[in-house]
Amino acid sequence: DAVIFSMIQPTGDFHLGNYLGANRVWKQLQDHKVPQQTCLFGVADLHAITVPKLDVVKFKQLRLQAIASILALGISPEKCTIFMQSKIPEHSQLNWLLETITSMGYLNRMTQWKSKSEGVDEDQVKLGLFAYPVLQAADILLYGSTHVPVGEDQTQHLELTRNIARRFNKMYKGRYLVEPQTIFTPTKKVLSLNNPTKKMSKSDADPLSRIYLTDAPESIQKKIKKCLTDSISDNFYYDPENRPGVSNLINIVSGIQGKSVEEVEKDIAHMKDYNTLKTYVSDIIIEDLTPVRIRYEQLIKDPAYLMDVATKGSLEKARPIAQGTIKRLMETMGF
Ligand code: TYM
Repeated sequence: DAVIFSMIQPTGDFHLGNYLGANRVWKQLQDHKVPQQTCLFGVADLHAITVPKLDVVKFKQLRLQAIASILALGISPEKCTIFMQSKIPEHSQLNWLLETITSMGYLNRMTQWKSKSEGVDEDQVKLGLFAYPVLQAADILLYGSTHVPVGEDQTQHLELTRNIARRFNKMYKGRYLVEPQTIFTPTKKVLSLNNPTKKMSKSDADPLSRIYLTDAPESIQKKIKKCLTDSISDNFYYDPENRPGVSNLINIVSGIQGKSVEEVEKDIAHMKDYNTLKTYVSDIIIEDLTPVRIRYEQLIKDPAYLMDVATKGSLEKARPIAQGTIKRLMETMGF
């Protein structure tokens, strides 16, 4: 049986990178339901506090926004399990069990850890940030997940997850934990609009670097208009090495339209200037995101409903599976 599983941190509105790298595929996988398929999609609020969330009112709101965004994308609480990590204590419990078999050396080699801890004083950098990928492995392994749709930046975390599962199974001589497959989209790495050598990210200080799913059409137009391209030539083709900005736009269109890069290149072959290209790209983004934004604006007005969806999904659907896993693993380990 296929268990499709993924999560997102509630650290700000979802952007085009999240959408084209992950969230859009969640919806597609939900809709291409094959028999015996389960989908679980969650809000990783425990992961979010690796960057302290001291404004707790705002943090509560961010968690609600994440649920609203998931629903606005068309992910349905009837077809999927939508859950909130912190409502299911078994995530933290499995995290501990797995930490006891994970090596420091392996965690030390994680590129996300390296980039986030580099240059930070050892007394300032936190254990939770270092151990972050183990909690992520626990999330995934708790549900016997077989397929995890994520963006490219999660590659190493998924490798670690498989490594931990293998190690556990070897130690306890059995097939207790499932090694999950990573699922990538063709747009597994969407780049920042004004610095296309970096990925589009929620934590980038400059809001012009990303397009939110909730951006109004004028804002999308403005951001695309200002995005960094090049002055190589007024005919546009895909060349990520030399024309990262233009190639990023081509990628975005190909992701939204479900067309290959070559097809998009043909569609834009007649264009003679950057303005025409940018208008074309922003029109396509606006058309795709408008229904999502409208649904989001409705949903966010009803926090009670949003919390209800998250609570039901967590306590009625996700938690019983998680409890079953913990029970089996604890027995296996001799508790
Ligand atoms: P997060 O919240 O940073 O991102 C959510 C998803 O969006 C993808 N993504 C991108 N894809 C393409 N291009 C980009 N520029 C881009 N930016 C983000 C991410 O790869 C991710 O799929 N650690 C995870 C959350 C997590 C998780 C899990 C994921 C916690 N537990 C278990 C899968 C399974 C994270 O920080 O994602």
